[in-house]
Amino acid sequence: MKSNARLNTSGQKRRPKARAVSLFSGCGGSDLGLHQAGFEVVMANDILAYAKDVYEANLPDTNYVLGDVREVDSFPSAQLLVGCYPCQGYSQGGAREADRGINYLFAEFGRALRAIRPKAFIVENVSGLMRADNAPLFQRQIRNFRQAGYHVTWKLLNAADFGVAQDRARVIIVGLRSDFGLKYEFPTPTHGPNALLPYKTIREALAGLPDWPEGEFNIEPFHWYYLSRNRRREWNETSKTIVSRARHMPLHPLSPPLICKGPDHFEFMHDGPARRFSYREAARLQGFGDLEFPDSCGMHTRYKVIGNAVPPALFKAVASSLPNIW
Ligand SMILES: C[S@@+](CC[C@H](N)C(=O)[O-])C[C@H]1O[C@@H](n2cnc3c(N)ncnc32)[C@H](O)[C@@H]1O
Repeated sequence: MKSNARLNTSGQKRRPKARAVSLFSGCGGSDLGLHQAGFEVVMANDILAYAKDVYEANLPDTNYVLGDVREVDSFPSAQLLVGCYPCQGYSQGGAREADRGINYLFAEFGRALRAIRPKAFIVENVSGLMRADNAPLFQRQIRNFRQAGYHVTWKLLNAADFGVAQDRARVIIVGLRSDFGLKYEFPTPTHGPNALLPYKTIREALAGLPDWPEGEFNIEPFHWYYLSRNRRREWNETSKTIVSRARHMPLHPLSPPLICKGPDHFEFMHDGPARRFSYREAARLQGFGDLEFPDSCGMHTRYKVIGNAVPPALFKAVASSLPNIW
């Protein structure tokens, strides 16, 4: 990384020369984790211009190709391919239509896999992919990757177990090229009741930030749907999942507690001021450092790229557990 990279990209230097190609790269959560695990990300791609702006402001050394992945016709050589293809059709917050066209972008990942033939690949996706109604789609993805010549394994991991101050369960799919004859072992939790370290809390993640950062949090009213569940956690807990929609962002712990008044119905305990997490706080809770947000887009797009991101620490843990085949 250039010395002007704003984020802490230092980490294990076990495999400093291994090259990675990243697809569906967003603002760079997964790729920051790769840097921290000692990989060089030689190409990134996304269709969202602001994702590229944030990525380049913070991780300036990668060749970021802006555009629809379906129009990318060549890929550089690499030992690792990573991709977090979109999930609107099967995420909890999405439309839950497993046959929506966007769900077939995994085939583009498969196309890159066949073109590059990396030694390994990593995919991240929402936990909804593991629901029974999505089984045919999930199996289709696994088949696609196996037919490309990879030994494929998957597991549901929670980012909180790897030092992220947030409950965020995600499916991680890892493939090792079959000619290695190796099986990937997922990392074991570093944080939580069965690990050496306690969970990271909201208080730790937000240390030093102002209580009321005017202009940096969404002030839309809390409509009935927002109040249909508890959106608040205490300072000494991990955060609820950071989502990409500004409207659904969890509450900051300075807000009054929410109490359950009936099925799908919560109310604030008192009239004290309440607010959602700011986009900058959301970035901290995802485990980024202090990101630079270019001015080219407003608040809602800032929340979106942050909510879409993979927590870097989670991706670092998964990438660091790959066998040393570089
Ligand atoms: C789950 S997010 C990826 C997050 C990213 N890996 C990170 O850690 O920040 C999925 C991304 O896919 C992108 N995307 C959706 N359709 C695409 C397409 N047709 N071509 C390229 N990127 C696309 C979205 O803009 C979004 O940033």
